[in-house]
Amino acid sequence: MNNKHPAFGFSTRAIHHGYDPKDYHGALVPPIYLSATFAFPTAEYGAACFAGEASGHFYTRISNPTLALLESRMAALENGEAAVAFSSGMGAIAATFWTLLRPGDEVIVSQTLYGCTFALLQGIGEFGIKVRHVDLTDLAALQAALCPATRMIYCETPANPTLRLVDIAAVARLAHQQPNVTVVVDNTYCTPYLQRPLELGADVVVHSATKYLSGHGDITAGIAVSSHAIAQRIRLQGLKDLTGAVMSPQDAALLMRGLKTLALRMDRHCSNAQAVAEALQAHPAVQWVTYPGLASFPQYELAARQMKQSGGMIAFELKGGIDTGRRFMNALKLFTRAVSLGDAESLAQHPASMTHSTYTPEERAQHGISEGLVRLSVGLEDVADLLADVQQALGKCARAVARPTLLAAHAGK
Ligand SMILES: Cc1ncc(COP(=O)(O)O)c(C=O)c1O
Repeated sequence: MNNKHPAFGFSTRAIHHGYDPKDYHGALVPPIYLSATFAFPTAEYGAACFAGEASGHFYTRISNPTLALLESRMAALENGEAAVAFSSGMGAIAATFWTLLRPGDEVIVSQTLYGCTFALLQGIGEFGIKVRHVDLTDLAALQAALCPATRMIYCETPANPTLRLVDIAAVARLAHQQPNVTVVVDNTYCTPYLQRPLELGADVVVHSATKYLSGHGDITAGIAVSSHAIAQRIRLQGLKDLTGAVMSPQDAALLMRGLKTLALRMDRHCSNAQAVAEALQAHPAVQWVTYPGLASFPQYELAARQMKQSGGMIAFELKGGIDTGRRFMNALKLFTRAVSLGDAESLAQHPASMTHSTYTPEERAQHGISEGLVRLSVGLEDVADLLADVQQALGKCARAVARPTLLAAHAGK
């Protein structure tokens, strides 16, 4: 896809796109339109709006000037034509599925997904849509799974929580050999600052804007970005009628505030996470660590090609599995034990008992989510403080792991 918004760089677009203070009494920050409905100058104009023959805002569940500004900014950042704002990431994902899939259709989804997306897919399976989980790193498996009924390929890259990557360009190339297949990518972990799936051939990008895009943990929000034609369908079906999951104008204003510092924040998330991942990798208490910026990352070359930097998320397991993992989490003093991600505060959580408890243990095993995996969202604090916190918590785990070994040695005497 060519650059549709070529004039300015990423941060300039994130701060200025679509707004000129002189149109709003000189207000530096765009006003918030707190209005559910909008006056029609005439009855005929109102009828024309409903018939889709006149443009203009008439009811906030369909459009609102504050939401429209945010949507045009997100389209500019993802290099898409249009965007639709939602009250949550799940709202954006559900509306995209309900708009683009019908009974009898098939959707191919990558192996590992955020727990509620996984549960939603099980739900739509009950409405006559066939869901096939395929390892999308295996293009031969994808080729074999594609059939005339395939209407969508859906993936997260990096995946939550395993960080496995999907080669978006390769998957889109294969998918588009067949007519009517839409490639949808959840870009929550990267944001358009690190990765732009539409430029790599995807058709729709969805986000939990609750995370890095807003960046301060104070709203839930979602976005879908695509061509004008797909966005209009998602707005008029998925948003207006099928979910009603519209974002509030106040949340749109908070999200636009977050976007202004997105590039700065992502740079810091990435450098902090790289340092934490390296410290984990070097520690004897750690069984394995997965982070796209480590040379040991199995898809290191793809990460370097597809992502501008390696992101702020880390997955790892301690020797001793989840028992040691819980000890580590409880020993943390600066990291907060909480789900969600992409906030200024560093967060630690245990997917098997929290965000991915929607999978059964068998499903987690099948989808590559180990029971001992601990997920870190590395925040914006001073890196020395983060490293000190991780080291002191790991120190307690190393002692705890060593103790039973010593006891066992004594017992053997
Ligand atoms: C990758 C990913 N996609 C979608 C969602 C859902 O977003 P929300 O919580 O805003 O509904 C999440 C939430 O954690 C997520 O991590």
